[in-house]
Amino acid sequence: MSFHYKETELFAEDCAVTDLAAKYGTPLFVYSKAAIKANWEQFAQHWPAPHKLCYAVKANSNLAVLNLLARLGAGFDIVSGGELARVLAAGGKAQDVVFSGVAKSHDEIAYALEQGIGCFNVESTAELERIQTIAAEKGVKAPVSLRVNPDVDAQTHPYIATGLKANKFGIAMSEAREVFRRAAQMPNLNVCGADCHIGSQILSPQPFLDAAERMFALVRDLRAEGIAIKHLDMGGGFGIPYQQEEKLEVSGYLRELQRKADEVGDLKLMLEPGRSIVGNAGIMVTKVEYYKPGSEKNFLLVDAGMNDLLRPALYNAYHAIQPVQRHDGLDEQLVDVVGPVCETGDFFGHARHLAAQEGDLLAVMNAGAYGFTMASNYNTRPRAAEVMVHGDTATLIREREPLESLWQGEHLLGDNV
Ligand code: LLP
Repeated sequence: MSFHYKETELFAEDCAVTDLAAKYGTPLFVYSKAAIKANWEQFAQHWPAPHKLCYAVKANSNLAVLNLLARLGAGFDIVSGGELARVLAAGGKAQDVVFSGVAKSHDEIAYALEQGIGCFNVESTAELERIQTIAAEKGVKAPVSLRVNPDVDAQTHPYIATGLKANKFGIAMSEAREVFRRAAQMPNLNVCGADCHIGSQILSPQPFLDAAERMFALVRDLRAEGIAIKHLDMGGGFGIPYQQEEKLEVSGYLRELQRKADEVGDLKLMLEPGRSIVGNAGIMVTKVEYYKPGSEKNFLLVDAGMNDLLRPALYNAYHAIQPVQRHDGLDEQLVDVVGPVCETGDFFGHARHLAAQEGDLLAVMNAGAYGFTMASNYNTRPRAAEVMVHGDTATLIREREPLESLWQGEHLLGDNV
C-alpha cells in the first residue's frame, strides 16, 4: 500500500504527508512512484510483445509521470498537439504515440506528421480527407487507424461513456467497412489499424468483451477484403474502486484478447489505459481553513477547490477523504467537505464522518487521474504543486503556480481606447 497509516499518521510510501505539506504547502498533489510502477506492471506482465500499451496522457500529464512511464516502456495515447509536445519533452518517442481526438486541427496533424507519429486514430471521413491532403502536401504516407464506435453500453457515467451510437466519437459500426474501403484508396494513407474506446471508469468486463467481439469480427472482414489491418487498439476505460466497488480484474480480459488475436493471426494488440495506471497512485492534500457548524449541516471549509479537483463537481464523483493525522479524543462529525470557490458545486464530499478541526490536513484519495490535468485557475487560484515520492525521497515535479503568472499575457487597454 503506497498510502498507509503508521500509527496515527498518513504516509505516502515512506514520507509523512504532514512533512510534505509543511515543505511544499497545500493544496498539494502527492504521487507514489511505486504505485504507478505496480499499476503499470499489472498490465505489462500480461501483455508480451508485440502487443503495446499506450498510456492515456490526459489522465496525468506531468512530465515526471510521462518520463517514468516512457522508461517502463510505455507508448502514449494523446489527444492534442500539446500532449504530443509533452510526451516528446518527457523523453517519449513520436513513433510510440497514437493520436486520438475528434477534432484534430490542421496544425496538429501537420505537427504530428513532422514528428513521425505512430498512428492517427481517425474519427470521421472528413478527418481522413484532411490527413490525406496534409500528408500529400508533405509527400509522406500517414499511418491511420479508424476509430469505430462499437455501440456497446459501458454502464458508466453518461459524461464519460463514449461507445454508444448517440456519442460524438468514432465511426458507426454500420458505416465502418465502407469508410475503411475509402481510406484504403487514399494514396497518402497507410491504413494499419482499427481502434475503439467505449468509455471510462468501467468496472465490469462485459462491455469490453462485447466490444472486442465486434472489433475482431470487423478485423476479419477487412482482412478478407484485402485491407491489411496490422493492429487492433481496444482503448482504455478500466475502472478503479473509488468507494467500495469490486476491483476490475484485467488479466482475464487481456488473456481473452490475446486468444482472439492468436486466432486471427499476426495481429498486434494495443490498449490505452489512463486512470488505472495513475488514479490510486495520487492523493490531494488540503488544509482545513475553518470548521463551520450549521443548523442543517456542518462544513469543513478546505483550501483546495473545484478548480484543483473537478471530478466531484462535474460528475458528482465520490472520492474518499481521510485525515492526514488521526486525532484521539476528537469526535467525528457529519460534515460536508467544501472548497473556497464561489459555487455550490465546489465540494469534495457530502455527509462524511470526519474528526478534523481548523489547521488539520485532509487527504482526498484516488486523485492521481483526472485531478491536476483538469485543474483550472477559476477564482484566480494558482494551480497546486505536485510531488512524487519514492521511498523516503520526495521530488517536487511541478511548482505551485506563481500568482503573477496568472495574468501574464493579459494587456490593459491603451489610453485612447
Ligand atoms: N483512450 C481514449 C480515446 C480516451 O478518450 C480515454 C479517456 C482513454 C483512452 C483513457 O481512459 P481511462 O483508461 O483513463 O478510463 N475526466 C473523466 C474521464 C474522461 C475520460 C476521457 N477519455 C473523469 O475524471 O472521470
